[in-house]
Amino acid sequence: MRRLALCLLGAVTLVMPPAHPAAAQVPAPADTLREPPVLPDRSSVPGVVDVDLTAAPARLRLVPGGPRVEAWAYNGSVPGPTLDVHEGDSVIVHFHNALPEPTTVHWHGLHLAIDMDGSPLRLVAPGASYDYVFRIPPGEAGTYWYHPHPDRRTTHQVAMGLFGAMIIRARNDPLAEAGIPEKLLVLSDDRFAPDGSVSFPEPGSIQEGIDLENGREGPVLFVNGQVNPTVPLRRGQVERWRIVDASAARVYRLAVPGQPLVHVGSDGGLFDRPVEVPEIVLANSGRVEVLVRAPGPPGSRSVLEDLPYDRYMPQTRPAGWNGTRTLLTLETTHGPAVTSAPIPAELRPVPRLDTTDIEQRRTIVMSQGMIDGKHMDLGRVDIRSRLGTTEIWSVQNVVGMDHPFHLHGFRFQVLDRDGVPEPFPSWKDTVNVPKHSSVRIVVRFDDFPGKWMYHCHILDHEDEGMMGILQVY
Ligand code: C2O
Ligand code: CU
Ligand code: CU
Repeated sequence: MRRLALCLLGAVTLVMPPAHPAAAQVPAPADTLREPPVLPDRSSVPGVVDVDLTAAPARLRLVPGGPRVEAWAYNGSVPGPTLDVHEGDSVIVHFHNALPEPTTVHWHGLHLAIDMDGSPLRLVAPGASYDYVFRIPPGEAGTYWYHPHPDRRTTHQVAMGLFGAMIIRARNDPLAEAGIPEKLLVLSDDRFAPDGSVSFPEPGSIQEGIDLENGREGPVLFVNGQVNPTVPLRRGQVERWRIVDASAARVYRLAVPGQPLVHVGSDGGLFDRPVEVPEIVLANSGRVEVLVRAPGPPGSRSVLEDLPYDRYMPQTRPAGWNGTRTLLTLETTHGPAVTSAPIPAELRPVPRLDTTDIEQRRTIVMSQGMIDGKHMDLGRVDIRSRLGTTEIWSVQNVVGMDHPFHLHGFRFQVLDRDGVPEPFPSWKDTVNVPKHSSVRIVVRFDDFPGKWMYHCHILDHEDEGMMGILQVY
């Protein structure tokens, strides 16, 4: 990857990828936002969730109104069906791989036994099945997602349509108890050939080099597989949105003109209390929970925007990177107004991880395509950490583009970014590390020995080996 990236730098200022026309042509809002189907639970035992999940080729209309094309889908839908469970549940996912190649299902953000992590060390062969069995720990209510994690093929499989959301609910969710309705928004983007099929760069092409450098981005932006859907809201309505960035590389800078976003949670669920912000940067694989309001009197509209965000090396910024894109349209309906319950001032306690007894302090250096100067080797262990200990990692990005850092199996808290203390604790499993900056995280290895991945979540970077292995023993 390194070699390719370097030789590109001279060329691409002249040969930029084709401008992305579809980005400019956001269709008029039409369809109402639909949420992905929920995985049906076959179990009649309370506290046990038993579902079937199959990854298989399917002929689907990936672009609304477009032709049916070859996709790879979980249970026939893109995004895949949502795994909707509660804290404390025991979950059994009977997974079947009907793809022509190995895959896995990685439960991004979950704290579970190593055999259930769906890492590239536990491939499911074509035609084979695997039961993912895990118990959802208390306190981990939040919005998560699942995706394939095979060796070097994650970008391809996700681009073909394999990704889905997971919601873990608390029995006493303060926003649900306040009567605030919610929606799930799975953000993705993709790139298509003129015949409508998912397009991948030719080996050795300029586009392939740009994808390796930037990560794959596509000009068509989807929310739950729809393009600029409408969210109708009654006047006065407040709604909670759980937003998942399932894109291979795209970082979203989310804003709704005319209203602040009420930021209530991130990867691992709710904050202590809501915070009002003008915009939120959501890096790929991350999640946010926000509260939004109906835009105004009946008939008024607003949009959820993706503002420009410069995560790129200047040499490979894609054309149109500095444009604003519309993700969806909010519309106040003509029905009677509703009086929304007040937003709770307190959500749930998020205790700070104890940093007085730190077993190890480590520095992790992300450069272009490598971590600590190395490409991943599935046969190597890069870091060894003792069970039951707490560590502080300083994750440093020494190059001129952002790399979102993700750790499997163990959620963490951000301590500071470039030395600036994080204002309040929250649970994270991915943190974007902007160009030439560093982030310090604290993580406790309380359970589950095994070999866990840590990597850049730009999927092309992950596939090219920007990943290491942590052995918890
Ligand atoms: Cu979202 Cu290693 O994964
Ligand atoms: Cu993960
Ligand atoms: Cu990266």
